[in-house]
Amino acid sequence: MPHLRPRTPVNAVLLRLRSEAIASLTQFFAGRSFTQTHPPIITSSDCEGAGEVFTIMPANDAPTPTDQDGQDSFFRSRKYLTVSAQLHLEALAQAVGNVWALSPVFRAEKSDTSRHLSEFYMLEAEMSFVDDLGPVMDLAEDMLRSLSTNLIESATVQDLFYRSPHSGSHLAPADEVRRRWEGLMRQDWPRITYTDAVALLRQKADLFTHKPTWGAGLQSEHEKYLAEYVGGGEKPVFVTHYPRDIKAFYMRETQTAGSDGAGAVVDCFDLLVPEFCEIAGGSMREHRVEPLLSAMKRQGILKPPSEGAADEQTGGTLDWYVDLRRWGCPPHGGFGIGFDRLLSYLAGVQTIRDIVSFPRWYGRCDC
Ligand code: 4AD
Ligand code: MG
Repeated sequence: MPHLRPRTPVNAVLLRLRSEAIASLTQFFAGRSFTQTHPPIITSSDCEGAGEVFTIMPANDAPTPTDQDGQDSFFRSRKYLTVSAQLHLEALAQAVGNVWALSPVFRAEKSDTSRHLSEFYMLEAEMSFVDDLGPVMDLAEDMLRSLSTNLIESATVQDLFYRSPHSGSHLAPADEVRRRWEGLMRQDWPRITYTDAVALLRQKADLFTHKPTWGAGLQSEHEKYLAEYVGGGEKPVFVTHYPRDIKAFYMRETQTAGSDGAGAVVDCFDLLVPEFCEIAGGSMREHRVEPLLSAMKRQGILKPPSEGAADEQTGGTLDWYVDLRRWGCPPHGGFGIGFDRLLSYLAGVQTIRDIVSFPRWYGRCDC
């Protein structure tokens, strides 16, 4: 009964935690002169290219079977709810320098797990004039360390650690939750490349249902192991430089001597926390036109030139994104953190559905 659930005491604490976390993060970014921005919710493209976008249309417009591209529709072409503000943040970062946003995003993933919602908040930051992944990871690390250090003594967080005999088992044990906060407050989180991580996992291959293989995504059992053994079960762990072919088109390819494309990796990271796995992902963005177009071509995003026409291949709905590269585009990079995943981790709730007042997930959107 989501309309009544906010009245239970534990939910009041969770609502206050969310509010205090936003205040603290706003202060953190203001202290570093990042501009807070409001990127759009309705977009023309699928930023992650994973086909998990919701299409929007007016309730009164029945789709016409002949209108493949939505040309007869409200916006005269098909539009979606955003899955990430990143592409728009890049445009803003090139105007005003470092930017950030905390905005709702939507994913039509049919994942019925304790970590997935169809609507959630993502905190995204985009840094201009950085040439290297290091400072982007530093920012994510500093941000989370500042948040946990600021809030740990607050009355709300002390309430969060309190367990009465009536607390039930829907919250993780208090000492476990405290360990999570202390882990975020520790210095120097380990950073390991995907290639080294896979080598490490392969030594323990018999522990896993899915055999770790270079070139495949990490399964949550693999992420759990890495968080446990690389981070010592306390510190978060950055896994960097994943294979190019399993990551999004906009990530910059890592320059390695003699690289011929096979085994290519990109300048990116996933941030893993013990128990919970991935809470953030980030990368350097390809800021040069030609390599960006090649990546889009490889991933089948480019529209081929029309028959007989002399025009070049176009980025279709991403033309504007490619065009940013033609008008002064410094090296840049950023990250996005699942804000509801982060709060779930810090609160010790069992499922992400408990951290949101009105959760929406595959099959459920009650009120
Ligand atoms: O890793 P993701 O897909 O990265 C991006 O969207 C980038 N464009 C962000 C950027 O660089 N600006 O998503 C970022 C984070 C994930 O690490 C995860 O924590 C969270 O968003 N997330 C979800 N949280 C709840 N429910 C879902 N269905 C989620 N999908 C991703
Ligand atoms: Mg990710």
